[in-house]
Amino acid sequence: MKVGIIGTGFVGASAAYALTLRGSCTELVLVDLNAKKALAEAEDLQHATPFTHPVRVSAGQYPDLADAQVVILTAGVNQKPGETRLQLLERNVKIFADVVPQVVKAAPEAILLVATNPVDVLTAVTARIAGLPDGQVMGSGTTLDTARFRALVGQHVGIDPQHVHAFVLGEHGDSEVLAWSSASISGIPIEEYCLQREIQWDEEVRKTIDEKVRKAAYTIIEGKGATYYGIGAALARITEAIARDARAILSVTAPNKEGLAYALPRIVGGSGIRDTLEVPLNAQETEALTRSIEILQEATHLAMG
Ligand code: LAC
Repeated sequence: MKVGIIGTGFVGASAAYALTLRGSCTELVLVDLNAKKALAEAEDLQHATPFTHPVRVSAGQYPDLADAQVVILTAGVNQKPGETRLQLLERNVKIFADVVPQVVKAAPEAILLVATNPVDVLTAVTARIAGLPDGQVMGSGTTLDTARFRALVGQHVGIDPQHVHAFVLGEHGDSEVLAWSSASISGIPIEEYCLQREIQWDEEVRKTIDEKVRKAAYTIIEGKGATYYGIGAALARITEAIARDARAILSVTAPNKEGLAYALPRIVGGSGIRDTLEVPLNAQETEALTRSIEILQEATHLAMG
């Protein structure tokens, strides 16, 4: 399975590394305005392949994306310390106006996976520019936030986070919604699980986890200038779900009928998004999701002009 990555900055290079380590694809083409950087990343990755799965890694230009099943879009500017994702909008919309048509021309059958922030709005912009069938354009959405949510709950209750079932919905950003009311440990509601195992579980714990998930990017950017391992692994996971037609349930972002994109749990398979699920929410979560969607509505209208 051939995958293209546009942009070999922190996120693009980390996604390429994660794809190579996990053997998510058999061919990887890296495209960047800075051809020298793309080539250096490709060579560096090639030297890892004797220790990983057989992946043919190369640097190229847009035409080299031909026949790619997935193209991951990571080009653009990322947050500086204290900057919100929505503040990147204007600069990255301009970049996408140039990038997306070239990707679609080179690989019209490819599923487009947007990672650049603000990812929800840029996914909507990409879908509008690309004019591809529903389900063929998606964004990483809150897959990373959902992973953070699960990792922090798993850490608190002392279990493998892969057995925590919980979703973050709406904007991949400050207004995101942690769906606590439907979160469970292998089907056991978290509160019930903690009661059974005499683990502290109260509003304070929930608030701390919520804060850590919501502020994770800001904290990491403060410390090392950018985030990339988490998002890189999330992009590899989504790509694998496509490559293997896994029909995995992932909180990716995708445009609704009105062209507004936000994250909900969706079934991801070989042809992209197969379906979208409705998560049961309590009144407070429903209100917060409505607010998150309104914020994205405003930003999307701004982006679409
Ligand atoms: C983060 C970036 C990918 O949340 O938005 O780390």
